[in-house]
Amino acid sequence: MRQPKIDAQRLWDTLMALAAIGATPGGGVCRLALSDDDRRARDQLVRWCEQAGCRIETDAVGNLFARRAGHDPRAAVVMSGSHLDTQPNGGRFDGAYGVIAALEVLRALDDAAVQTARPFELVVWSNEEGTRFAPAMMGSMAFAGLLGVDEVLARTDADGLRYGDELARIGGRGSGLGNRRIAAYFEAHIEQGPVLERERCTIGVVTGGQGQRWYDLRLTGQAAHAGSTPMAGRRDALVGAARLVDALRRIAEAQPGGVATVGELHIAPNSRNVIPGEVRMTLELRHPDDRLRDAMDAQLQRAVHETTAAEGLQAELKTVLVQPATAFDPTLVARVRAAAQAEGLTHRDIVSGAAHDAIAIARVAPAAMIFVPCAGGISHNEAESATPEDLAAGAQVLLRAVLGACDDE
Ligand code: HGY
Ligand code: MN
Ligand code: MN
Repeated sequence: MRQPKIDAQRLWDTLMALAAIGATPGGGVCRLALSDDDRRARDQLVRWCEQAGCRIETDAVGNLFARRAGHDPRAAVVMSGSHLDTQPNGGRFDGAYGVIAALEVLRALDDAAVQTARPFELVVWSNEEGTRFAPAMMGSMAFAGLLGVDEVLARTDADGLRYGDELARIGGRGSGLGNRRIAAYFEAHIEQGPVLERERCTIGVVTGGQGQRWYDLRLTGQAAHAGSTPMAGRRDALVGAARLVDALRRIAEAQPGGVATVGELHIAPNSRNVIPGEVRMTLELRHPDDRLRDAMDAQLQRAVHETTAAEGLQAELKTVLVQPATAFDPTLVARVRAAAQAEGLTHRDIVSGAAHDAIAIARVAPAAMIFVPCAGGISHNEAESATPEDLAAGAQVLLRAVLGACDDE
């Protein structure tokens, strides 16, 4: 048996073919979860996997599995994949790289006529981004038993469309959930941060992911005439929101290693000569240490209380997601590190700043990730970019790690 090898050109060409689905004029991709473009990407991936002889299954929340048989059909599987849904201003590699790298592993095993002991499954997790249907990682969290199926199916988007109805509309709804024994889960992903590029490192050996907390906040004041209402006594919801945007930034800056963001802000009635009566906004904070993340949460809660009292507002603060900091499986992390060494690639351990499906899957199976650099550390931006060489190197490390786990009885 010759050592299977990644075909770098085929990997790049397949990534670019996928990037054409939902391509945006700015050179990025917009494939919101369960949209027609998400369906087109899923359908294209199924065609590629069926051409590779895989058996396709989908589960009750739309996670998609492509199975390549191993010698022992009863053995727990080795699984690899990521997500196909993107941010509205997404890039060509976030999520897609992990799915197509797993497809390239499938293809390289076929090229070398390798049959592994364990079955290998490529997976596409549904709605990783959580931008259309909150929270993030819905498919993988449901798979891991962290969200109920009914809870997922009932979630609605900004237009009131239900996840379950949209999943049925795109033909993505299967049955069952979580009923798979996973011996090892690997996910390849761009770093989405600046470390690897800055240190000229090709491979990130991801040891775990930081924890996070997501909130929805509704601030209610009083809409009134912009011209005839004196400043004293106004109950301006947007002034409250602005104070909280600044307070959140100061909380994160005061906590080394912490980050915090207000990504969405909706003003009502959003008219230039009306004092904003209501603001709906999202807030999120993240930290590698759960105790310090909780301290940031307490400071945020206090800031909301003080700001609403000072501005005469009501606040409705809802926690949408609480995710603990997660350590990946040391044995699998060691496999990734050994694979990078065997390929003679520069590598370093790294903790993921972004959340990924692997973090949810780590709750129910041994999991690990492989990072490759992205230009300027930019992601969740149409300008997201990575080199064909780094992407191929990451996929080759994935191939080695998967092979080792597949034949490890
Ligand atoms: O929010 C995240 O970290 C991921 O990109 N969904
Ligand atoms: Mn991602
Ligand atoms: Mn993302």
